[in-house]
Amino acid sequence: MQRVGAGTLRAADVDRPVQVAGWVHRVRDHGGVLFFDLRDRSGIVQVVVSPQDTAYEVAQALHPEWVVAVAGTVHKRQSGAINPKLPTGDIEITDASIEVLAQADVPPLLPSAQESPDEALRLRYRVLDLRRQEMQENLALRHRLLQVTRRHLDEAGFYELETPMLTRSTPEGARDFLVPSRLQPGAFYALPQSPQLFKQLLMVAGFERYFQVVRCFRDEDLRADRQPEFTQIDIEMSFVEQEDVLALAEGLMQAICEAADWQIQLPLPRLSYQEAMLRFGSDKPDLRIPWEIQDLQAFTDVFSVPFLRSAVEAGGVLRGLRAPGAASLSRKQWDELGRQIERFGFKSVPYLALQGGELKGSLAKGVDAAAWPRLKTALDLRDGDAALVLAGDDEAVSLALGQLRLTLADMFGWRAKEHRLLWVTDFPLMEWSDEEGRAVSRHHPFTHPKPADVDRLEAEPLKVRAQAYDLVLDGVEVAGGSIRIHERELQERVFRLLGLSEEEAQGKFGFLLDAFRFGAPPHGGVAFGFDRLCMLLAGASSIRDVIAFPKTAKGTDLLTGAPAEVSTHQLDELHLELRPVDRKA
Ligand code: AMO
Repeated sequence: MQRVGAGTLRAADVDRPVQVAGWVHRVRDHGGVLFFDLRDRSGIVQVVVSPQDTAYEVAQALHPEWVVAVAGTVHKRQSGAINPKLPTGDIEITDASIEVLAQADVPPLLPSAQESPDEALRLRYRVLDLRRQEMQENLALRHRLLQVTRRHLDEAGFYELETPMLTRSTPEGARDFLVPSRLQPGAFYALPQSPQLFKQLLMVAGFERYFQVVRCFRDEDLRADRQPEFTQIDIEMSFVEQEDVLALAEGLMQAICEAADWQIQLPLPRLSYQEAMLRFGSDKPDLRIPWEIQDLQAFTDVFSVPFLRSAVEAGGVLRGLRAPGAASLSRKQWDELGRQIERFGFKSVPYLALQGGELKGSLAKGVDAAAWPRLKTALDLRDGDAALVLAGDDEAVSLALGQLRLTLADMFGWRAKEHRLLWVTDFPLMEWSDEEGRAVSRHHPFTHPKPADVDRLEAEPLKVRAQAYDLVLDGVEVAGGSIRIHERELQERVFRLLGLSEEEAQGKFGFLLDAFRFGAPPHGGVAFGFDRLCMLLAGASSIRDVIAFPKTAKGTDLLTGAPAEVSTHQLDELHLELRPVDRKA
């Protein structure tokens, strides 16, 4: 008899002899009659064993997580025993013979537990954690999305090609993970932060359409949506313009979303970087939050508060955000909000609040009474609302209000339930880095400037816009890409602007510049952050929940104990000597 999936059995299978195998999920003893749930990848089925059954003795010994094979007959449950919550809730298996395939120790976390176990425990005993239904579903979804991706790109004429994992570092802004070379003492490989340069070389090599499901490594500070190793769907195309790449990415996204039961309408909405910053104070706006930042420049005269006025007179901007319900916030909560924007140079959040028809808040006394109704109408301020008002440097005001918008959305549950997807385009090519004291690439140095802006590269580098685009889902950047520079001279100009001498450029990227000498097609591409995409489409709150074996926020693999010390012999072979480390530091 062939084994069937436990979770696939239905009323139509009644009287059928079946064989199932899996884990003992739960055991219940109802006055002699034993019930146990058997769980496999497909779900759960109930097995019933009565004292007169030959399997009774074996069934009595069963414990959670033992592995068993059961042969029996599908039986219709009595009407009172039907469980509508379970797909197999109409039936059960009776007349069973049970073979114990493996016993199990008492598990430190139970896959059948209702509450979500402690995360450290989950990562330490990952196999048990992965047996939980939520994790089984997340990884099944991940599999489906990957298959859809491969099918879609194959049908669109893409080759799936692999690029090296042991390589030279490509600068994508994060730190590299390094691998010492045994054969070349003192030399190191870097694990790729992305296959950026190799995919460009594949275009120069004439493959025209490439994709790869590829592991990328970045040694950066971790957050809920970052891992030190993560998976990209990496794509590159030749003889294309930005519109072609966006159309391809949208088609793929539509296929992926459909596989996650979400129908999206194309074309996707777009916002320029500038507009996204102005309206949402972020280059990855969360459109599920309905409230937008408002320009209050025209209301400068409404405020008699000296610090707002002087900021505007000094050439600053004046912007505000309506915060429904925020009139109820306490002094302490406003102070806490103020601390969140200290990093943008603000000491507190100046605000107005409307409560019981009365104007309150730190700005209440500094508002001209005659002009106030005008502002109230513009902000659409209603009783119980607050309005946050900031003045100063354009970018600082935007970023601060953008941050407050997100925090208040968390506090007041402002986010709509449905997903929101959009492109952000026309990013600046470069940004100023205080740390480096020079302009640095916003994406990477291979991004093509907008043709209209190429002429002002040297004169106004920070004003040059890039042919770069990000795909943003629910306030998370799920993909990013650009049209690349394929002209050697332009690439050299950009390197010079980034402070790279000719020798440095040749030393680091000589292989790319050399390839450009032999005929490079115009090309561009995009890379999807596959883990992030799975996280959002699975409704998970961390990418750890869609990765089978993830690392903690400190980069530790609690399952294997990596990273770990190695033997002196291994270090010797690699010509490495360790400095004493202060483990507490
Ligand atoms: P970028 O650096 O934007 O672009 O990366 C592409 C996408 O990868 C995801 N991502 C991450 N996911 C999990 N953990 C991380 N640490 C992490 N870092 C990035 C994001 C991001 O949008 N070479 C370019 C692509 C190109 O230009 O074609 C690149 O790597 O979702």
